[in-house]
Amino acid sequence: MEVVINVMNELEPFSTRSISAKYRVLVAKDLVKRFGEVVAVDGLSIDVFSGEVYCLVGPNGAGKTTTLRIVVGLLKPDRGSVVIDGYDVWTSRREALMRVGYVPDYPNLPSYLTPLEFLYYVAALRGFKKFDVEEYVRYYVDILNMSDDVKKPIRALSRGGLQKTAIAASLIVKPKLVVMDEPLTNIEIDTQVTFKREILRLAREFGVSFLISSHMLPLIEGACSRVGIINKGKLVLEGSMDSVLRVIGERARFEDVYMKVLGRDVEESARGS
Ligand SMILES: Nc1ncnc2c1ncn2[C@@H]1O[C@H](COP(=O)(O)OP(=O)(O)OP(=O)(O)O)[C@@H](O)[C@H]1O
Ligand SMILES: [Mg+2]
Repeated sequence: MEVVINVMNELEPFSTRSISAKYRVLVAKDLVKRFGEVVAVDGLSIDVFSGEVYCLVGPNGAGKTTTLRIVVGLLKPDRGSVVIDGYDVWTSRREALMRVGYVPDYPNLPSYLTPLEFLYYVAALRGFKKFDVEEYVRYYVDILNMSDDVKKPIRALSRGGLQKTAIAASLIVKPKLVVMDEPLTNIEIDTQVTFKREILRLAREFGVSFLISSHMLPLIEGACSRVGIINKGKLVLEGSMDSVLRVIGERARFEDVYMKVLGRDVEESARGS
């Protein structure tokens, strides 16, 4: 634990502000992205503050992955801008992206490397020496329950093993903002619990910010401080988790708020199931 704190302290050179002062790590403004006739993202704006776990939730095809790919500079929007820690993702790409960890929806990792080799490779691309990240790599291999896998080639990993490698890669690079697209896909239950605790710890203790797309109710209800519900490329509801749970009256379950906001009849769907 102490080791992790030491490593995370090396975030400091990135940090110009104290973690107690909340500020916008991500400012995404008025994003629009079309694929032919389809408007995948339709005038969407999202701010993520330091130390915040922001969850983007919505139906299949709502525009979550497209939004996240725009945020991490993999897709150019037709309109709008993305600024990370003060740096524009398109005009100051390096400065912006060196602050970001990213878990894509389908991790496509080099099949011939082992997870350990891959993690050190990713660290090296970010300018870290092996000893800069060694303790951190060991820590994530341990808490993500990867030790049986780290010496196999990536092509031999189970789907969960591959996903854990992608999660570890996003966290060892000392990010200020971690963007994760359905990070818990194929992850075993005990590691889901550990994952949730770990992101909360990183957010609270070190001010790391998270933008996570997920369909997992336990993660959404248990870890998200703010939530945006997206449908057809637009945010249809956004707020602190507390305020979102109260929009339909007394404190509700997230699934009931979600069904109501998206116009799905809760009682009907319960009866039908
Ligand atoms: N490369 C592409 N070419 C054409 N259409 C695309 C492309 N990528 C996404 N789309 C379309 O854009 C819309 C938004 O897709 P996106 O993948 O962002 O949804 P999502 O919210 O991530 O869905 P899911 O929950 O299923 O992952 C969908 O209609 C999808 O078919
Ligand atoms: Mg998606």
